[in-house]
Amino acid sequence: MASRVAFLTEPFLFFTPFGGRRSGGSPRVSMASTIPSAAAATNCSSRIETPKKLFTPREMHVQVTHSMPPQKIEIFKSLEGWAEENILVHLKPVEKCWQPQDFLPDPSSEGFYEEVKELRERCKEIPDDYFVCLVGDMITEEALPTYQTMLNTLDGVRDETGASLTSWAVWTRAWTAEENRHGDLLNKYLYLSGRVDMKQIEKTIQYLIGSGMDPRTENNPYLGFIYTSFQERATFISHGNTARHAKEYGDLKLAQICGIIASDEKRHETAYTKIVEKLFEIDPDGTVLAFADMMKKKISMPAHLMYDGCDDKLFDHFSAVAQRLGVYTAKDYADILEFLVARWKVGELTGLSGEGNKAQDFVCTLAPRIRRLDERAQGRAKKASVIPFSWIYDREVLL
Ligand SMILES: [Fe+2]
Ligand SMILES: [Fe+2]
Repeated sequence: MASRVAFLTEPFLFFTPFGGRRSGGSPRVSMASTIPSAAAATNCSSRIETPKKLFTPREMHVQVTHSMPPQKIEIFKSLEGWAEENILVHLKPVEKCWQPQDFLPDPSSEGFYEEVKELRERCKEIPDDYFVCLVGDMITEEALPTYQTMLNTLDGVRDETGASLTSWAVWTRAWTAEENRHGDLLNKYLYLSGRVDMKQIEKTIQYLIGSGMDPRTENNPYLGFIYTSFQERATFISHGNTARHAKEYGDLKLAQICGIIASDEKRHETAYTKIVEKLFEIDPDGTVLAFADMMKKKISMPAHLMYDGCDDKLFDHFSAVAQRLGVYTAKDYADILEFLVARWKVGELTGLSGEGNKAQDFVCTLAPRIRRLDERAQGRAKKASVIPFSWIYDREVLL
């Protein structure tokens, strides 16, 4: 039985594929006063009106737990051997993995200072809005403890001991270890660049890890693996786009950094989509229902609770910049959905229940509907606004 725990705190913030500017729940009239006009912008600390309660969950929906019927846990137990042969093969042996140091100046070398100088020269011309996207991506990666926790909430696949020998647990630990290189590399690059306020960034990471995330996966590995399939592809796309932009700005080393991270995300996407493909094979009805459920709730971004100590809408602002620069957009959200529908051949499923048929129709027709809504939103004339970001010393960036 699913147990339900009501959580009622701050307004429900969710990723919106429409520019990241929407927040549900009650209207927040006071918000305007917490974000100064361009003229009034000074520094982050002067923008804080009232100190925030530490690490308060910000979601307002009902939190559902253990929604997968207990008998389905057996499916995951029976897939142990399959996962060993089909999923663990997508991990790379440590000795063959790249490490952050491969892409950074070597602090023990004679030429260290010169290499740092070159790094700083290369990124001198990169605009602030790009740095906002890169910092947001780095902060997202740095909240990795939250994502490992999230995977270990899932019934039937969690790491029961911290060193469990099940294929699922081996995967989760090794996946985490691979992902850990992403935040490390971006963090060190940004530190050396001298372009960003590291202390504000570090505070944002601490707030974010303390806040956690609520992807609404309900301890349910069906929902959990649909979520991770979507997210790995989303990060593959966004790191790919930051790589492309870095190349355009002439920083080929940064392009390489973002590109190598994107290639890890792609490999992880392959593994997670394979798990869901297997679930579609074993339990098409249950899996299509889970897919529709996740899409109805919307795929919230992992860093949706980010906060830097002064901007209450930091994630929305970051998302808006990422949307404007084409790093991660509403169109990407619809494209990922469409990609997954095709990848899992959802349109070709037969013999579904009535509910299953409805779920199938819903997910197969959702991407064009999202695109239409986005086009309409884009068509509405928006007043351009600028927002100071503490991550770049309160310099202002167009949303
Ligand atoms: Fe990553
Ligand atoms: Fe990832």
